[in-house]
Amino acid sequence: MADQSIEPALIIKDATKTFGKKTAVDHISFDLFPGEVFGFLGPNGAGKTTLIKMVMGFIRPDEGTIIINGFNRKTHYEKAMSSIGGIVENPEMYANLSARLNLKMYARLHDNISDERINEVLEMVGLSERADEAIRKFSLGMKQRIGLAQSLLHRPKVLILDEPTNGLDPAGIHQLRDILKHCAHEEGVAVMVSSHLLSEMQLMCDRIGIINKGKLLQICSIEELMNQANGSIYRIKTSDPVRAKKILSESYDHSITHLTADTLDIEIDESQINECVRVLINGGSDILGVQKVESSLEEAFLEITGGGIDIE
Ligand SMILES: Nc1ncnc2c1ncn2[C@@H]1O[C@H](COP(=O)(O)OP(=O)(O)OP(=O)(O)O)[C@@H](O)[C@H]1O
Ligand SMILES: [Mg+2]
Repeated sequence: MADQSIEPALIIKDATKTFGKKTAVDHISFDLFPGEVFGFLGPNGAGKTTLIKMVMGFIRPDEGTIIINGFNRKTHYEKAMSSIGGIVENPEMYANLSARLNLKMYARLHDNISDERINEVLEMVGLSERADEAIRKFSLGMKQRIGLAQSLLHRPKVLILDEPTNGLDPAGIHQLRDILKHCAHEEGVAVMVSSHLLSEMQLMCDRIGIINKGKLLQICSIEELMNQANGSIYRIKTSDPVRAKKILSESYDHSITHLTADTLDIEIDESQINECVRVLINGGSDILGVQKVESSLEEAFLEITGGGIDIE
């Protein structure tokens, strides 16, 4: 976990952006620290990309202050931008050139990037072996890694990636996680990633900020979020879930979260599961199986964001 007594690498204060009548980002404030991976989590339309575009200098905030590595984005734009790296949309690359040549071309936009640094970032993203192949031969995951290498070239203090796991398979997500953790924990970069999937952020991030409808609702560690989830969800398989539900409702304090033709999900503490099954059997239900469904972390997230998608 990052040391929060040190200077933040990125300070966002009251950032606000309105499109017509729509407030996409509504007075968002938080600090990002060197050495941490911060997950910016929210459903579709929450305002993640808009905030990231403001921080990366692509769009201007209507209100608020953004300070990157001590430089105010408004008054010292170039210095602020020189400390940041990231990917918002797919980075432009020359498909017919090799990965290494693409990085060389990109390096010319910055001062003093050595061939050694290019080798270093290729190594970091695990592409040293394929560095001299044309990019058009790369898979989506490899292209994403080259994009990441590109954004790391100038040793940014802040690295921001918008939905970096999009389109990656589980192995790709695992690799990305290792690369980002390495950047943050070993090299002291302040890393921020956005996602609408809590499960993907769970293992990648030290802290997460939950955003919905343009507002930052909460900042917490994954553990804190877990603690907010009341108990866990257990799935009980039975031939007659409606009957089981009735038996439970007569004699047991519980919360049933989901019902199918042959299962019912119940939110309950582990210590109560024995008693719950006993009540069902005594009531005449048949129990065909009991299984712990993922922790109720996803549920806690949905609860905080009010259940999801902001559809206009
Ligand atoms: N250029 C724009 N013009 C008008 N409205 C916009 C513009 N960009 C974003 N919005 C609106 O702002 C809100 C936030 O959009 P944003 O793209 O930031 O969400 P997001 O959290 O990145 O969503 P997703 O998970 O779908 O990528 C949405 O309601 C969107 O329609
Ligand atoms: Mg987005």
